Amino acid sequence: MKRIVTLALAFLSLSTGVLAEVVQINTPGSSLVMQADKGKKLKHLYYGTRITDSDAANLKAAGAALLNAYPDYGVDPSVEPAIAVEHADGNMTLDLVVDGIESREENDASVTVIRLRDKAYPFFVNVCYRTYPGLEIVETWTEISHSEKKTVRLNRFASGYLPIRYGDVWITSFYGSWANEAQIQCEPLAHGMKVIKDRDGVRNSASARSEIVFSLDGKPAEDNGRLIGAALCYSGNYRLIVDASPDKNYHHFIAGIDETQSSYSLRPKETFTTPVLALSYTDKGLGQLSRSFHRWGRDKKMLHADKLRDVLLNSWEGVYFDIKENEMDQMMADIASMGGELFVMDDGWFGVKYPRNGDKQGLGDWTVDTRKLPAGIPGLLDAARRHGIKFGIWIEPEMVNIGSELYENHPEYVIKAPNRDLTYGRGKTQMVLDLSNPKVQDIVFTVVDTLLTRYPDIAYIKWDANMPIRNHGSQYLSADNQSHLFIDYHRGLEKTLRRIRAKYPDIVIQACASGGARVNYGLLPWFDEFWTSDNTDALQRIYIQWGTSCFYPAIAMASHISAAPNHQTGRSMNLKFRTDVAMSGRLGMEIQPRNMSPEERDQCRRAIEEYKTHLRPIVQHGDLYRLLSPFDRLGAASLMYATPEKDRAVFFWWKTEAFCHKQYPRVKMAGLDPDRNYKVTEMNRIDLKPLAFEGKSFSGRYLMDKGLEMPLSHNAPSADEWASRVLLLTAE
Ligand code: GLA
Repeated sequence: MKRIVTLALAFLSLSTGVLAEVVQINTPGSSLVMQADKGKKLKHLYYGTRITDSDAANLKAAGAALLNAYPDYGVDPSVEPAIAVEHADGNMTLDLVVDGIESREENDASVTVIRLRDKAYPFFVNVCYRTYPGLEIVETWTEISHSEKKTVRLNRFASGYLPIRYGDVWITSFYGSWANEAQIQCEPLAHGMKVIKDRDGVRNSASARSEIVFSLDGKPAEDNGRLIGAALCYSGNYRLIVDASPDKNYHHFIAGIDETQSSYSLRPKETFTTPVLALSYTDKGLGQLSRSFHRWGRDKKMLHADKLRDVLLNSWEGVYFDIKENEMDQMMADIASMGGELFVMDDGWFGVKYPRNGDKQGLGDWTVDTRKLPAGIPGLLDAARRHGIKFGIWIEPEMVNIGSELYENHPEYVIKAPNRDLTYGRGKTQMVLDLSNPKVQDIVFTVVDTLLTRYPDIAYIKWDANMPIRNHGSQYLSADNQSHLFIDYHRGLEKTLRRIRAKYPDIVIQACASGGARVNYGLLPWFDEFWTSDNTDALQRIYIQWGTSCFYPAIAMASHISAAPNHQTGRSMNLKFRTDVAMSGRLGMEIQPRNMSPEERDQCRRAIEEYKTHLRPIVQHGDLYRLLSPFDRLGAASLMYATPEKDRAVFFWWKTEAFCHKQYPRVKMAGLDPDRNYKVTEMNRIDLKPLAFEGKSFSGRYLMDKGLEMPLSHNAPSADEWASRVLLLTAE
C-alpha cells in the first residue's frame, strides 16, 4: 500500500537558511495541507478534495488565508483560541511556532507530528495527525507539555481547529433528550457563535452529540455536495464551537473537551493529550460521509466489528425489576425457541442486605439475590446451556445507592462537594462513584473481574450509567485539583476499561446510559455496541436511528422488538412494523414472550431466521444508503444496505404517517450495480398475497432510477394502518 501521508515539498530558503515545508496529509480522496515553516506560526492552507503536490505548492498563490492551524491565545486575541494558558509566572499569552516535523508508521497507520514551541517559554504543543490506508478519516489531536518551573494552568485545550470558508455553509448537528436522542437539526450557518456541548459529566450524548457536519454547498443532500464531518471521540464533557465572525471570510471550528470548571494544572514534564477529533471530507454528499465514518468506526474504533452480533432477548421491558428464576428460565426457553442466540438479564438481580427491587437501593452490591435466584448465576448459566443459548448480565458499576453496603462502608467514594449535602439522581438515592480515585477504579474493575472469573461463561455485559455528576467535588482529589474532576473521571473510566479489556478481550459489552447517552466514538474502543435509546417505540426509533446513522454503523445500534402498546409512548404498532424497524439495526427483543400469541411468536421466529440467514451480514457489515428521510416528513422513510461487492442488498421502507389517501413519494434505490440484475424477495412477509414484484428481477439501473412502488397497506388479517416492507435483493 502506498504511503498516504506525504511530507511534500520541503524546500530550503537559501537567503535565510530556514526550512520551509508544506505538510500534506492525504487520504485516498482528501488532502489537509499546512504550511509549517520552522520558527513561524503553523498555518492552515487547505482541506478538501485530494490535490497534487504542485497544487499544494501553489495554495498560497491561490489565496489561502493562512490562518493559524492551532490558534493560541495572547498575541492575536481576535481569533477564538484553540489553546489558552496561564504560565507559571502569570503570563497569559502564548506564541507558538513550528519547531519540527516528524512522521512515523504506527501499526497500520501513518502519523505526522508537527512540533510547536513557544517563542519565549519552554512550552510545547505537538499537533498530531493520523491516517489509515484506504480510509477517508484524518484523526487529529494535540499533546501539550512544558518544562517551566511550576505548574501551568491550561484554560483552553482543544483537540483541533479548522477554518471553514464563508459561503452557503449549512451545519447539521444532533440534539435530543432521554428517549428522544439523535434528532437532526440542519440549518444555514448564521453569523455569531454556535456552541454544541454536553456537560453531564458522566455520559455525553443524550442532549447533544459531539458530531457535526459542515455542508459547503447549501443544504446537505445524501448523494452530492461537498461536506466536512467531524466527530470528537471523547466520553466526557465536550464543546464544539463554530465561530462565524462577520468580519472575516472564514468560520472557525474548534472542538475539544469542555473546559468549563475544568481548567487543568499541568505539572512540568507531564503531557496532556487531548481526545481525537476525527475529520472526513467528501464531495459526494452525506451518504458517503456516513459510510466513511462507518467504515473507519468498524475497522478502527469499535470492538469486534468483524463478528456478526447475536440476536438477543433483554429482560428489562419484559419483567423490569421483578427478576425470578423460573421466569428467567421461561424467557430463555422462549427466545431459544424463536431462534435467538443470547439472553440478557437486566437490572434487579443483586443486593443482599439491600435487595434491588426497584431503583432506590442496591447499586454497589453486586452479589446475587438468592431469594430471587436460588441457584444463583450458575443456575442461570446451566439454564442457558440447556436452551442452547448464551447468557449476559446487566451492571451499573460506576454508581451506588445510599442504601448499599458499599456506601455504608465507603462514603468517601462518592462524588460530593465539601460542605454540601449529598445530591441524588435516579430513585432519589443514587450517587456517582468517584472514578478519579484509583481505589474506586479497582472497585469498578473488580465488579467485572469477579463476575467473569467466577462465571467465565457469561458472554455479554450491559454496562449502564444512569446519573450525571451533580455535586462537583472529589473527596479524593486535592483542594487545588478539584477542577480536574470531570477529566480525571474519564481518565479513570478509560483506565478501568483498558484493564478490563486487557483481561477480557472477547466478552461483548454494550454501552448503555439511560438509553443512548453514551453514543460516542470515545467509548467504542472498549464496547461492542450501544443501547440506542430507552425508547423502543418503532415509529420514534426510525428517527432516533436515522440521526444516529449519520455517524454510527448499524452493527453498533441495538434495536429491539418490544410490546404493543409501547411502554414509552403508549402507541400500538403491529408486530411486523416493530420487527421491520428492529431488523434495520442489531436485532434483539425486549418483551415478555409469554404475553405473545403463538402466531406472534411464530412470526418472530420466521423473522429472526430470515435476519440471521439473509439480512444480518448485509445490515451489520454492509454500506448504508439513506433514501427517504423521516425528518423530511413526506409520510414514509426508507434506507438500504448493500454489500461492498454489491451482490446483495436489503431495502427497508416504513410508513411514518398513516393518513387516508395521502400521497407518498416513490423511493429510488441506491448502492446497487447498475449493470446487474437483482431478484426481489420480500422478508418478514405477512401478506396473504405476494407482492407483484416478488421473485421478479430488475436491473440495478432501473431500481436506482425508478425504484419499486410500495403498497401502502398489508392484505393480512393482522394489518392495521401502518405498513412497512423489507426486500432482499440478490444479484443474479
Ligand atoms: C436504564 C437503561 C434501561 C434499563 C434500566 C435498568 O434506564 O437504559 O435499558 O437497563 O436502566 O434499571
